[in-house]
Amino acid sequence: MTDKVEPLELARGVYWVGVIDWNLRDFHGYVTPKGTTYNAYLIVDEKITLVDTVKAEFSAEMLKRISQIVDPAKIDHVIVNHVEMDHSGSLPAIMTAAPDATIYCSKNGKDGLHLHYKAYGCEDWDIEVVKTGSELSLGSKTLMFIEATMLHWPDSMHTYIKEDKILLSSDAFGQHIATSKPFDDEVEDVMAEAAEYYANILMPFGRVILKYIDTVKELGIDINMIAPGHGIIWRQDPAKIIEAYGRWARGETNKKVLIIYDTMWGSTHIMANSILEGIKAAGVEVKLLNIRKNDLSSIITEVLEAPVIIVGSPTLNNGIFPSVSELLTYLKGLHPKGKQAVAFGSYGWGGGAVKAVEKELEMAGFELIEPGLQIRYRPDEEGIAACLQLGERIAGFVQ
Ligand SMILES: Cc1cc2nc3c(=O)[nH]c(=O)nc-3n(C[C@H](O)[C@H](O)[C@H](O)COP(=O)(O)O)c2cc1C
Ligand SMILES: [Fe+2]
Ligand SMILES: [Fe+2]
Repeated sequence: MTDKVEPLELARGVYWVGVIDWNLRDFHGYVTPKGTTYNAYLIVDEKITLVDTVKAEFSAEMLKRISQIVDPAKIDHVIVNHVEMDHSGSLPAIMTAAPDATIYCSKNGKDGLHLHYKAYGCEDWDIEVVKTGSELSLGSKTLMFIEATMLHWPDSMHTYIKEDKILLSSDAFGQHIATSKPFDDEVEDVMAEAAEYYANILMPFGRVILKYIDTVKELGIDINMIAPGHGIIWRQDPAKIIEAYGRWARGETNKKVLIIYDTMWGSTHIMANSILEGIKAAGVEVKLLNIRKNDLSSIITEVLEAPVIIVGSPTLNNGIFPSVSELLTYLKGLHPKGKQAVAFGSYGWGGGAVKAVEKELEMAGFELIEPGLQIRYRPDEEGIAACLQLGERIAGFVQ
């Protein structure tokens, strides 16, 4: 915990009271080389309102930050936009400090809180359920709630401060960046981090996102600032991140092919390189990623922008090489929309990996555009020619 903790005023009476997790490198499996933040917001009006909290281990730091603005015992309302514990983990500490506070959350949020915080006496908490369009007057400011069911949990909702036109968007529009500069115009590569976050957390929910964007339009709300649950706050150009979400949700991609593979003795690697040469020769952009030399989180971000992926695995014990299986398992859950794929790999005797990769790719929602290519042991000239030709044919699909 830091000794001096400054709150940050986003608008008159609206403060950031979250914490910066500089040293986080793994967010439930998502690799976070830049750390992250857990953003919580305090609104000081006739009613004192806290929107979201932080991971439990940072409770004391958040309370200290709040204390510099107001005595935490004076908190009247706590808005729980999302039950996941990186945002609700300090709720027990807040409810200990302000036991009479009223909690506002979605219907699924109330159920979720009971499933997480029984041991902390949540039966005694005053929990009010709100819906899309519900309003809560704080005095001079008004909060409006927007349910964001399955974006990305059943309980997810967003809070809009009407007078300040600030959307507190929980896990939507976030990025895993720890930074002392909190705004989009102060930090480089924010869009790249936002894309990685979208690819790893929100990719399965494209349809929900498009519906959410429509709801926001129907509500006719003006957005001056989007303050998400992680990372920087979008103040310069909040429309930019909403547009990007629309693009990603619709599955719009660049004209690029991605070759993702692993290899034990280099034969599948030779195949990968030869397929790459074929694609390159046809004038199409292509990128090669060895699975064990790249983390899954960044591979998935590349998948987000590619219309076609080519997945290579050697046969190991009649089946898929484990690192390739891990990628395919992750892809099955993320289920990207409207993408095409091809499988390839080297084998020694009975084979098996290529067929198994094809099956997994289909289960992950990919359309197979070419029969998988398998080559026995090291590719000879003929094998290399087959790879080059496969590359050229694949390039034809993205031109
Ligand atoms: C531990 C091990 C298990 C293997 N199991 C099989 C197998 O069950 N079936 C098969 O066809 N080849 C099997 N092979 C042979 C490899 O698939 C073959 O050597 C292939 O060329 C390796 O490709 P790579 O150089 O890209 O790793 C195995 C190889 C190793 C090292
Ligand atoms: Fe979450
Ligand atoms: Fe989160």
